[in-house]
Amino acid sequence: NKVGIIGVPFEKGQKKYGVSVAPAAMRTAGLIEQLTEIDGLDVKDFGDIETVCDENIKVDNMAHLPLVSACNRQLSNRVSQVLRDGRVVVTIGGDHSIGVGTVDGHYKVNEDMILIWVDAHADINTNKTSDSGSVHGMPVALLVKELSDYWPYLPTMDWQVPKFSIKNLGYLGLRSVDQFERLAIEKYEVPAFAMEDISEHGIQNSINHILQVLDPCMNKPIHVSFDIDSLDSLEAPSTGTPVRGGLTLREAICLMEIIHNTGRLRAIDLVEINPALGNESDRRKTIEAGLCVLKAGLGFSRRGTAPRGVLDL
Ligand code: ARG
Ligand code: MN
Ligand code: MN
Ligand code: MN
Repeated sequence: NKVGIIGVPFEKGQKKYGVSVAPAAMRTAGLIEQLTEIDGLDVKDFGDIETVCDENIKVDNMAHLPLVSACNRQLSNRVSQVLRDGRVVVTIGGDHSIGVGTVDGHYKVNEDMILIWVDAHADINTNKTSDSGSVHGMPVALLVKELSDYWPYLPTMDWQVPKFSIKNLGYLGLRSVDQFERLAIEKYEVPAFAMEDISEHGIQNSINHILQVLDPCMNKPIHVSFDIDSLDSLEAPSTGTPVRGGLTLREAICLMEIIHNTGRLRAIDLVEINPALGNESDRRKTIEAGLCVLKAGLGFSRRGTAPRGVLDL
């Protein structure tokens, strides 16, 4: 099993200082060492994406689009390269606008991929529906071909042709969805297990149902885009748009274990960790939670000796 790590110290997809520090903070906390300890895992660090951009074009209600575009363009190429090297790609953000680059780069290598967006938010606004003008609330809408007609022409984004179908998208953890985002999710019948649904069905049934809907033959490459704010903000306080009432870390670990156990997880994004927010304890908790999520997705096992399936009592 081979893994490639990409850091993306990028924060211009939202307004707060600090998300760009996360790749360095994760490395300092022992990211590479801890992943290397997972049995049989070959870990290679591909370093950070450096964003250079001299363009100064303004696009309506879409802050810093040329910068977001330049970063994602490079990131997309790097993701494709790591996948072609036969590695599971782990991308450490950065804010969630970098999902454009990771999914674009993955799609170029695996056109049959499915995407599980684990998030408190749906990130499916366009610049016509967004209240914030922050691109981290728009990556899904940029990626999905079915929504391309709802965008105006976007300067600097010509490299990114949305081909990924919304039929291959599923959501987990939603609890803060804007009005038009809800319309899109309903119109295209995107399987979305929001927190109320997860409370009702449990995390195992929820993820298994999504996988069953998106990939009934169980043969598609899986991309998980994990926003740390999907976790309850008690578990992961250092993030820019926290929402209470989210996933427990145990649920998130369980979810990642189930996806790992499919044997088809090809890419994980871990985004929106902001080490500049909160106190030292908040920071530590949030980074540790991120590490736990990654390790579970990459095969670190908590399993004991209990029999699998239904217990024989
Ligand atoms: N829906 C809000 C917006 O469009 C919040 C998005 C938060 N996104 C995130 N990746 N944390 O701005
Ligand atoms: Mn997000
Ligand atoms: Mn979010
Ligand atoms: Mn394994």
